[in-house]
Amino acid sequence: MPELLEARNLCKSYATPGGSPLRILNGVTLSLAAGDAISIIGPSGTGKSTLLYILGALEPPTSGDVTLDGRNPFILSDKDVSAFRNREVGFVFQDHCLLPQCTVLENVLIPTMVGASETDSESRAKQLLDQVGLSHRLDHRPSELSGGEKQRVSIARAMIRNPKLLLCDEPTGNLDRHTATQVADLLLEMNRASKTILVVVTHSAELASRFPKVFELVEGQLQAK
Ligand SMILES: Nc1ncnc2c1ncn2[C@@H]1O[C@H](COP(=O)(O)OP(=O)(O)OP(=O)(O)O)[C@@H](O)[C@H]1O
Ligand SMILES: [Mg+2]
Repeated sequence: MPELLEARNLCKSYATPGGSPLRILNGVTLSLAAGDAISIIGPSGTGKSTLLYILGALEPPTSGDVTLDGRNPFILSDKDVSAFRNREVGFVFQDHCLLPQCTVLENVLIPTMVGASETDSESRAKQLLDQVGLSHRLDHRPSELSGGEKQRVSIARAMIRNPKLLLCDEPTGNLDRHTATQVADLLLEMNRASKTILVVVTHSAELASRFPKVFELVEGQLQAK
């Protein structure tokens, strides 16, 4: 299968006041095909979130490049890079980041309100909410849901555009073990059903081991485990 996501020699440094730059990523190279599912582990502060943000075009690398289906988002204008993210990348964070004033259904539909929209967005949102087991909670507000349910809504929202890439940063970090297992099951099910590339950053060795490929970020580079 042709590689869909290619990261070549990614480096990332941050300037420090008056000092030498803080080097976080030091030559990350990664090739993933449609349907791949990987986890990335590593101690706190090693740059896992930084790497995820670069793969999702939220943050530019200092050097190196990323292509998704042959497109490099970092050469696009701000407007085009936003459209690229909206179309091609789904994000799930540790904190679900749902809008409290919107219903479950509205939250899932938010990404479709930007740019050109498909006419059947609402039926796709309902289908996704059915898939994550929440079709009976469409009109509820996030405050009426449990932590695991909120995270399931955020997974449905991340998948609404059928992205090529689904990036999850500590998606089960706030959940108990049983709920974390359910959320992981759901992510893997989405990956299998849609062929979306799944990249999950986690501190949990148990969660990481459920993925076909596990990488560790060590001294700014990815090592296959
Ligand atoms: N905007 C920034 N400016 C300066 N330093 C930054 C910036 N963003 C992140 N860093 C630094 O980069 C390093 C890596 O941060 P990152 O958030 O990627 O780590 P992480 O592996 O995700 O950690 P954790 O497991 O705690 O979430 C940290 O030392 C952090 O302080
Ligand atoms: Mg992090």
